[in-house]
Amino acid sequence: MNLTDANPDDLIARIQSGESIETIAAEYGADPVRLLDYCGNPFVYSSEWYDYGYHLLKCKTDTASFEEIRLQYEEKGYFKKLDFYFDQIQLPNRPVRWLEIGCHLGLSAYAAARRFPQIQIDMFDFSQKAVEWCQRTFPFPERARIWRCSCDHIHFGDDPLNDQYQVVTCLDVTEHLPKEVYINAVREICRVLSPYGILLLQQGNIPSPSHINVMNEKSLIEHFSSVNLKWLDTKPFVPKSVILHKFQKTPAGRPFEYKPTSLRKE
Ligand SMILES: C[S@@+](CC[C@H](N)C(=O)[O-])C[C@H]1O[C@@H](n2cnc3c(N)ncnc32)[C@H](O)[C@@H]1O
Repeated sequence: MNLTDANPDDLIARIQSGESIETIAAEYGADPVRLLDYCGNPFVYSSEWYDYGYHLLKCKTDTASFEEIRLQYEEKGYFKKLDFYFDQIQLPNRPVRWLEIGCHLGLSAYAAARRFPQIQIDMFDFSQKAVEWCQRTFPFPERARIWRCSCDHIHFGDDPLNDQYQVVTCLDVTEHLPKEVYINAVREICRVLSPYGILLLQQGNIPSPSHINVMNEKSLIEHFSSVNLKWLDTKPFVPKSVILHKFQKTPAGRPFEYKPTSLRKE
C-alpha cells in the first residue's frame, strides 16, 4: 500500500493511540520521517517521536552539520542566553564534572565546554537519534560521555552516578515531560548532584504541542525545593522571556522531604 493512499486522520489516530511509528511506516514501505510529515507530525510523547518527529523532521539533523545548526542558534541569540546563565556560576580551577540533561543537539553542552575548559561533560537524551547526532558531531569529544538514558532513571551502564556532579543543567527539558516522568526526574537530578553541587534549571514556556508540562515558575521552584535542594536565586533572561533558577544540593544528612502531593495540584 502506498502512503498517499492512507487517510492522514487514520494515521494520526493510530500514532496517538501509541502504535509504533516505525511499524506503521513499514506497512506503507515508507520512512518514519516521511510518514510523520505526510500526516502533519502529530505529537505523541515517546522516544520514537523525538527521534523522527523532532530530531530528524523538525531539526533536520540527518543533513545539517554541527556548524550549520550552531549558526542558526547563534542568530537566534541562543548562546547569549547560555552565557548569561553560566555567568551565574563560578567554577574552581580543577576538573569539574557536569551533567547536561536531555542534551538534544548538544548546544548547551557545547557552550559549557567552550566556556569552562576544566569541565568533563556527561550528557544524555532519551532519543537515540539525538544521542547519535551528539556522538557524531560534538566538538569536544575527548571531554564528553554521551549516552542514551531517560531523566527519570539516571545511570551510566551499571553506575548509578550517585552524588557525582558539581553542576547539572536542565534547560528546556521539564516542559517536555509527562508528570510521572517529571516527578521522578526531580528526584533523580537531586540524587546525582554532589553535595553542594549546583543545578541550573530553566523551562521553555512557548506554547507548542510537545510542551506538555509548562508550569508556573513558583511551582517549579517548589517541586525542586521539596527534595534535598536549596533554592538560591531566580534570574529572568528578558530578551527570551525565560527564567533561570539556581539550586544547590544540601549536604547529606538532611531528611528526604520530597512531597509528590504538591505536584498533583497542577
Ligand atoms: C528542547 S530539548 C533540550 C535542549 C537542551 N537541553 C539544550 O539546552 O541544548 C528537549 C530534549 O528533551 C529530550 N527528552 C524528552 N524526554 C526525555 C527524557 N525522559 N529523558 C531524557 N531526555 C528527554 C528530548 O529528546 C529533547 O531532545
